[in-house]
Amino acid sequence: MKIRVALLATLFLGIGLFSSAHAKLLVITADRLIDVESGEVLERPLVIVENNVIKTVGKQNRMAIPEGAQVLNLEGQTLLPGLMDMHVHLTSDATKHGYKRLAVSVPRAAITGVKHAEKTLMAGFTTVRNVGAPGFTDVALRDAINDGDVLGPKMFVSGPSIGVTGGHCDNNLLPYDYHQYSEGVADGPWEVREKVRRNIKYGADVIKFCGTGGVLSKGTKVGVQQYSQEEMDAVVAEAHLRGLTVAVHAHGTDGIKAAIKAGVDSVEHVSLLDDEGIELALQHGTYFSMDIYVTEYILGEGEQAGILQESLDKERVVGTRQRANFEKAVNAGVKMVFGSDAGVYPHGDNGKQFARMVRFGMTPMQALQAATINPATLLKQQDKLGSISAGKLADIVAVKGNPLEDMALMESVTTVIKDGVVVKYAE
Ligand code: ARG
Repeated sequence: MKIRVALLATLFLGIGLFSSAHAKLLVITADRLIDVESGEVLERPLVIVENNVIKTVGKQNRMAIPEGAQVLNLEGQTLLPGLMDMHVHLTSDATKHGYKRLAVSVPRAAITGVKHAEKTLMAGFTTVRNVGAPGFTDVALRDAINDGDVLGPKMFVSGPSIGVTGGHCDNNLLPYDYHQYSEGVADGPWEVREKVRRNIKYGADVIKFCGTGGVLSKGTKVGVQQYSQEEMDAVVAEAHLRGLTVAVHAHGTDGIKAAIKAGVDSVEHVSLLDDEGIELALQHGTYFSMDIYVTEYILGEGEQAGILQESLDKERVVGTRQRANFEKAVNAGVKMVFGSDAGVYPHGDNGKQFARMVRFGMTPMQALQAATINPATLLKQQDKLGSISAGKLADIVAVKGNPLEDMALMESVTTVIKDGVVVKYAE
């Protein structure tokens, strides 16, 4: 497989090198194409990619294959836009939780991220939003990918998550004697503004903060608000002033609502949502990113990975409520994006969430839109990403069969094209 990827990359890059005067053309045919913008299916599509951009999308019987083009015939397969996961932690290792994670240095986390970036891309995720990483390891990884040093998805990164002293985004594993604080800890409106500015200075594309307690943090109450309304208002105002979007970690009912009122762009987890929270999200146009697969990993393999007993207890409450509220939010018409929290569970397994999204209330098309056009819009990248449309970047994946009939197919992406380069191809 590895050799095959390398060969393909050389083949396609090679053409680019030797015919630099001409555009590099790639033609892709398949049985069907999912048009996530119209919500329709295009049968027997033919897509022409010129360099890194989609040039034409049409029907096979109405279009000629341009001379000199590389042709990829994906018989029996479905073409989809490159998948987008709005909640990952590429520099986190799912086998190291709780006290095990204390032994992972920042440079070690960065190196782990290289492996996870490739796994994520090979699973069909050509874009991710990385919401929380130590020491700006996410910025380094994003830049290494963009420079072509390592293989991985397009990354939109937050740097260290911002949070209150002793909150979900602090590290509370060690007693007072160690004087340990996470680097995103800030209290008070001006301190949080300073953290936003610092994250921007070191390369953040988006701001992530913790608005309530969490499952995996020691000693936090999952339903309880962290940050006052005043502090949340300050984070969001400062980020928006600088042109960045904001993602808030919020499980708790009050924290979800305070963050929406503050104007966040997306709420993560959204487990203990109430009707008023749904109303507010609809009014403000807030996106929900609900990680409804991860509960299965936490309760199944979490203990072995070092997840604390108190976290397992919290998860038993939160997971069930979150799935029920996912269904309510979907039915109410809240804007949804695919966010998995991969890093808590193994990278590359991101796609497992698709089948759950359908089981808990989405139509198959809605689940695919949540991982393509919706995140592109949330990231304000809808002119470049999120659908297979002329003029957009050529991020395209394929699965065998029809995912609208079987969402589990999304767990085995066969072909991945990123920026017009075929990085994975399996018959
Ligand atoms: N990072 C999140 C937290 O610690 C994970 C929550 C996972 N549970 C869930 N049901 N989504 O709070």
